[in-house]
Amino acid sequence: MCGIVGYVGSESVLPILLDGLSRLEYRGYDSAGVAFIENGQVDVQKKKGRILNLREKLADSGLLARQDIHIGIGHTRWATHGAPSDENSHPHLSASGRIAVVHNGIIENYLELKRFLQERGFEFASETDTEVIAHLLEYHYEEDAGQDILEAVRRTLSDLEGSYALGVLCADDPEQFIAARQDSPLVLGLGEGCNFIASDIPAILSHTRKIIIMEDREVARLTKEAIELFDAFGQPVKREPLLVTWDSEAAEKGGYEHFMMKEMHEEPRAVRDTVLPRIRDNRIRFENFQMDRQALENLDRIRIVACGTAAHAGIVGKYVIEALCRIPVEVDVASEFRYRNPIITERTLTIIISQSGETLDTLAAMREAKRLGSQILAIVNVVGSSIAREADHVIYTAAGPEIAVASTKAYNTQLAALYLLAFQMAHTLGRIDDAELKDYLEKMTNLPSLLETTLAHQDDLQRFAAAHFNAHSIFFIGRGLDYALSMEASLKLKEISYIHSEAYAGGELKHGTIALIEEGTLVVCPMTQPQLVEKMISNIREVKARGAVILGILTPDCMRAAEVCDQVIELPQIDPLLAPVVAVTPTQLFAYYMTVNKGFDVDKPRNLAKSVTVE
Ligand code: G6P
Repeated sequence: MCGIVGYVGSESVLPILLDGLSRLEYRGYDSAGVAFIENGQVDVQKKKGRILNLREKLADSGLLARQDIHIGIGHTRWATHGAPSDENSHPHLSASGRIAVVHNGIIENYLELKRFLQERGFEFASETDTEVIAHLLEYHYEEDAGQDILEAVRRTLSDLEGSYALGVLCADDPEQFIAARQDSPLVLGLGEGCNFIASDIPAILSHTRKIIIMEDREVARLTKEAIELFDAFGQPVKREPLLVTWDSEAAEKGGYEHFMMKEMHEEPRAVRDTVLPRIRDNRIRFENFQMDRQALENLDRIRIVACGTAAHAGIVGKYVIEALCRIPVEVDVASEFRYRNPIITERTLTIIISQSGETLDTLAAMREAKRLGSQILAIVNVVGSSIAREADHVIYTAAGPEIAVASTKAYNTQLAALYLLAFQMAHTLGRIDDAELKDYLEKMTNLPSLLETTLAHQDDLQRFAAAHFNAHSIFFIGRGLDYALSMEASLKLKEISYIHSEAYAGGELKHGTIALIEEGTLVVCPMTQPQLVEKMISNIREVKARGAVILGILTPDCMRAAEVCDQVIELPQIDPLLAPVVAVTPTQLFAYYMTVNKGFDVDKPRNLAKSVTVE
């Protein structure tokens, strides 16, 4: 997501900040900025677009060449609250302009805090959640922290809910800056006569290899001579630095061998950031979408339109929305939708799903649906993208930038957004009551920890893949939501491992495709729907009788199918309705390890592009 770099020392700070930010470019960003202290004032320079734009701005003003600026913080922003723009870029300044802050993460209670501050006369210059932090810092600095910036940070942190990595600069303290973290990575770098912070090690690796990894709720004060680290209670913490021996390319992947693996490991965080900020007082609140009961009752149908992985998320969405809301839902791949004269009326809600927000077929389909009079709700990952800008309403997923071509964490978050939408609509329609909604929301809140548990099964899948990577053809079969999930699992496998693969509804195989099953054919069977297990067991017996080898991915409720499987991956206990969010992860890991065993480039599969902007 966003990137942070900070420096205090004797060298000229701006080249160090720009160099550090450039090393975080791979993470994706849409604006960049720096704050530094000169002549007892905080100066902020920021610019939408590439770091190069910021560099030019700093060079043109003569600041870049200055040798007398020695302390500063820098940021690359990947928009989450508010479009990419100069105003929304970081650093953000407090009202007096004396405190600057850079922030990674999401402040979940920022609207509440914003109201609190507005009532006290604070004015906001941006749409970001981060600006709340800048003003809160000033509020505490003046009101109850005795103009001590470290104390003001501590008091501010106790007001914040959500995730953050922070760098804070105060004009009254030109020799020090403050760092803090909660659920968003931040490291401290120890130099010779200088010290650093960074959201990711590569940003500072050319200056120091001595790194202290901050832990949740810790706060640090950095001067050029020392770093003081404190725990949540203000007690000093002593931690020996690590000596980083990796090269910077490995460091960009956070120690993982590939971006795809790193991104799968980000799934718990991505789902949490998509879900938690929308849940308040046992209700779901989207920033930009709300339909009342009459509007929902008036809908003749919902159409979901998307491409690739996003379309597969849409198929899960269809099952869930129909089951909960009893509104007919049709799913189309965007390239087909446009040219078949689809039935759309003013009573149709079209849901467009896209990670990039730039896929040309999806964009064109959206425009067509709009032209035909439909309301458009987009579920998009990239803030300010074309689809996000043109849709009537947007629900953003919080996957963060996805670099591997094969989409992983984006899918989990698209599902999470669709579930929230389905629960909200079903509740508004009176189809689920307050207690049921509360129960579902608790289960949604628990998804990140279930994803953590699931990721821990990595080794079993690695071993299984090592024994089967020479397969020529692999089938995925499932029923109900497991069929919807199988489509995505099969796509993931074929797009990166180049193994032929198909997904079939468990009951459909015998109508032709079973002819392709022969001795040793691998069949992967996600089973998360207890009411369909007996039927699946029969379908598995049909393929086993023809020699198939079965990999079962089972929830505890479906464990009775283990007897027909050759290998079982056990999922944690999960409500069957929510199972795809978690059950997809082993199938992604499976695709990953099959590909690694075959020696192909996991992150850049042949013939594919991350964002397809041609028809
Ligand atoms: C490309 C990518 C897929 C992605 C699809 C839709 O084909 O390789 O991974 O699912 O586009 O992309 P979108 O950005 O619209 O979700």
